[in-house]
Amino acid sequence: MNDPNKDPRFLHDPYLTYAAMRSACPVQAVPTGSGGHSSYLVTGYAEARQALGDPRLSKNTAAFFADKESRRRLHPAVAHNMLASDPPQHTRLRKLVTKAFTPGAVAELRPFIAKVVDRLLDQWPVDGPVDLVTGLAVPLPVIVICELLGVPEADRPNVQRWSGELFAAGKPGLIDAASNAMAEYMTGLIATKRLEPGGSLLDRLISARDGGDHLSEEELVSLAVLLLIAGHETTTNFLGNAALALLQHPAELDRLRSNPENVPAALDELLRFDSPVSTATFRYTTEAVTLGGTEIPAGVPVLVALGAANRDPERFPSPDQLNLDRDAVSHLAFGHGIHRCVGAPLAKAEADIALRAILTRFPGLRLAVPPDQLQWRHTRLLRGLAALPLLT
Ligand code: HEM
Repeated sequence: MNDPNKDPRFLHDPYLTYAAMRSACPVQAVPTGSGGHSSYLVTGYAEARQALGDPRLSKNTAAFFADKESRRRLHPAVAHNMLASDPPQHTRLRKLVTKAFTPGAVAELRPFIAKVVDRLLDQWPVDGPVDLVTGLAVPLPVIVICELLGVPEADRPNVQRWSGELFAAGKPGLIDAASNAMAEYMTGLIATKRLEPGGSLLDRLISARDGGDHLSEEELVSLAVLLLIAGHETTTNFLGNAALALLQHPAELDRLRSNPENVPAALDELLRFDSPVSTATFRYTTEAVTLGGTEIPAGVPVLVALGAANRDPERFPSPDQLNLDRDAVSHLAFGHGIHRCVGAPLAKAEADIALRAILTRFPGLRLAVPPDQLQWRHTRLLRGLAALPLLT
C-alpha cells in the first residue's frame, strides 16, 4: 500500500483504513519513507500489546541508525534519551525519573493547572468563535511542563516556540535549530539550578540518586528535553481530540455536562476512541520475530499503531462507538510495557481540569464548522487537529 500518511482522507479518518488492514493481516509490511524499505505495521490489539512488551523489539535507535546514511543530525540530547534506550540503561534512567515524578508532584500541580486553564478560558469570547487548539490545547501543556521543570516565566515563550518547531514536519533546518536551542537552554538552566537550587522537578532530578547512582549532565539535559517533547503535542492532541469526540456525541456530552464529576472516569474511553499518539515510536527487531503469525526479519523497523489497536473489535466491542460507560482502562494510548508513558497522570490531570472547566463555563459550546472541514496535522506518529473552531 502507499504511505497513508500522505492521504488527506486517511489523516481525516484513519480508522477505516486501519480496520481494513487489521482484517487483512494485523501485522503487515508497509513501505517506509522515500528509501522504499519495508517496515512492519501492527494494527491488532493483542499483537500490539505483545510487540510493546517484547524485548526483542529494541528502542535503541542510535544503534539502529549507526550504519545508516539517513541518520538525522539532531542534538544528542534530543536524539538519545530514555524513550530511545533499552535495559539496563532504560531501567536505570526510568528508576531515577519515577523517583522524582511522583503522583504527589502531579497532585501539587493541580491548583496551578486550574489557574492556567481559567486564565486561558477568560480570554475566550462569551459570544463568538474561538479555536480550542490555539486558545487552550497548545499553551496549557507547555506552560505546565515549564512550571514542573522550573523554567522561569520569562523564558517560557522561547521554550514554547522551540517545542512547536521540533514538530515542524518537512522543515529539517528548523527542527535542527530548535533541537540545538532547546538543548543549550536546558544545559544553562541546569547549571543555574545547581548554583541556586529550588523545588522543581528539575531540581529533584538533579539531586535524585539511587544508591551511588545519579543522572549525568547529558542525561539530565536529555530528560528535560524529552519531558518537553513527550508531554507537549501529545497532550495538545488529547485535549483537541477529546473535545471533538464529545461535541460529535451530544448524548454523551450532555450526560457529562450534567455530571462533570464523571470526567476523570471518561478519560480512558476518550483516549481509546481517538488516540493522540497514533503510532508508538519505532522499534526494530534484534532478531527474527513472529508476531500474529507474521514472520518479521531481523533488523527492520516495527510501528505499533496504538490508535488502530484501540479500535480492535476483538478487544473493544463496537469500537467506533464512543461509550463513556465502557471499561476502557486497558487501552494502549499511553503505550504498554517498560516504556509506558511516565506523564500519564499529568496528562490526565490536565484533561480533567480543562474539560470540566469548559463544560461548566461554556454550556452552549458547539462546532463552528462541519466536521469534514476540520484540518488534521500532518505528523507521522501523532494524531491531532490543526484547529478546532468552536462557537461559545
Ligand atoms: C495524553 C497525553 C500523552 C500521551 C497520549 C502519551 C503517550 C505516550 C506513549 C504512547 C508513550 C510510549 C511510546 C512508545 O513506547 O513508543 C509515552 C512515553 C513517554 N511519555 Fe507520554 N504521553 C502523553 C503525555 C505525556 C506527558 C504530559 C509527559 C511528561 C511531562 C510524558 C512523558 C513521557 C515520557 C518521558 C515517556 C518515555 C517513557 C519511557 O521511555 O520509559 N507524556 N507517552
